[in-house]
Amino acid sequence: MCSAKSEWCHVQEQVLAERGDTKKQCGLVGDILDTCQGKCELLYLAEAMFVVTGCAGVNYDRYGTFTSHNGVVSGNGRKIDGFRGLSETFSSISTSASLLARIHPSIQLAMASKMSFQIVCLIVVVVMVNLHVSAEAQQPELVKGLSWKYYESSCPKLESIVRKQLEKVFNKDVSLAAALLRVHFHDCFVQGCDGSVLLDGSASGPVDSEKTAPPNLSLRGFDIIEDLRRRVHKQCGAGSVSCSDITAIAARDAVVLTGGPEYSVPLGRRDGVSFATRDATLANLPSPFVPTDTLLTTLATRNFDATDAVALSGAHTIGVAHCPSFTRRLYPTQDATMDKTFASTLKGVCPDANTDATTVMDIRSPNVFDNKYFVDLMNKQGLLTSDQDLYTDKRTRAIVTSFAVNQTLFFEKFVNVMLKMGQMEVLTGTQGEIRNNCSVRNSNDLLISSVVEGDNIESF
Ligand code: HEM
Repeated sequence: MCSAKSEWCHVQEQVLAERGDTKKQCGLVGDILDTCQGKCELLYLAEAMFVVTGCAGVNYDRYGTFTSHNGVVSGNGRKIDGFRGLSETFSSISTSASLLARIHPSIQLAMASKMSFQIVCLIVVVVMVNLHVSAEAQQPELVKGLSWKYYESSCPKLESIVRKQLEKVFNKDVSLAAALLRVHFHDCFVQGCDGSVLLDGSASGPVDSEKTAPPNLSLRGFDIIEDLRRRVHKQCGAGSVSCSDITAIAARDAVVLTGGPEYSVPLGRRDGVSFATRDATLANLPSPFVPTDTLLTTLATRNFDATDAVALSGAHTIGVAHCPSFTRRLYPTQDATMDKTFASTLKGVCPDANTDATTVMDIRSPNVFDNKYFVDLMNKQGLLTSDQDLYTDKRTRAIVTSFAVNQTLFFEKFVNVMLKMGQMEVLTGTQGEIRNNCSVRNSNDLLISSVVEGDNIESF
């Protein structure tokens, strides 16, 4: 049985179980994980890999001195097959570009320490194949009509205007980053990324609208998007940049400015002229109350696989949820997959099922975009049913573990899935329009010039 009290204990047990290792060495590997936290990405491989690549911050004293000779790593009274360690790494973390970049110099080191020629050749092939996969992953095929440089000549300062303004906004209230990330998701999943979620129902149709559908009632940050639109249009002109593109850039910046991965956003989306009904909105947004089985089936119809589903859910590493989103797990009976101490804390926040309070979605680092959400899940501290069940369901459990122990891998898969999500059913070319007010379609907008030219830009 696992004896160490480290929160990484569950991680390690899972890692060992997946490797078919019957020895429970929680103290040893758990300590390595703790020491490495934030300093290396090579947690998954436990002993063999941290030796081969080195790991800044590891207290080697506890494990003795390790040496490598002809590919065989020895230390602490044991021999570890270095080559086997490497191949395990590549199969489990196959497309991690930055990890490979880190491994690369260590392979040169390994050569210097007389690792056998065949082993080095094989590793070089594996590295090249993986770098090839990574290079492809960085430049996915874009939907027709979108481009990486869409506003290069028409609004070259677009991205710096948004980034600078959001830095100010998040410095004042970091919780708004989560709000903007969620708006982009809710936009894309309902009727595609067309900015339809930004439209006020009363301006262009029935009150019973997309924006007022239950899942969207807790969306925040519409005013920030409109403020960004004003700033951008003031610089580049009315009709220059769509609200849906501004939303996608804002979501990316929300990720980056809270510590997440940097990535380019394909641009050229046009804004929709209508919004979805309440029912269509409800039907298209995944429910937080469903088990993974339902989540996977629903997402599969939108072309997202299990890895995508887990990576998408990783967005819950920042932000908050209201009590009614998770109190079914507390009352009348407590969900067995929820940690007991965590449950009693939540009961304090939500004394009854409909309390109007919020709590953070990632108890370890609620305002930082990192992989701690997955560590939460491994410790039964996921907030929503749809979150926690990812660690119960056999199809997604190993993916959760792999993200919990390898942030680089999570970031890579998250970027992939954001690029995929950000291109859902986009309007391009002459479709739709470029709104002059993000909450009103143009035909309803009688005040275009004063909105664009006015000086009344709110200072956040
Ligand atoms: C996979 C299915 C998903 C479900 C079932 C789900 C459900 C939810 C729920 C119920 C909340 C809390 C709402 C509240 O009570 O106020 C929430 C919050 C949030 N969701 Fe999701 N979500 C999912 C996917 C995503 C995706 C794909 C993203 C972004 C890429 C995302 C980003 C967020 C963020 C950042 C928050 C916090 C918002 C804030 O602090 O205002 N979610 N989600």
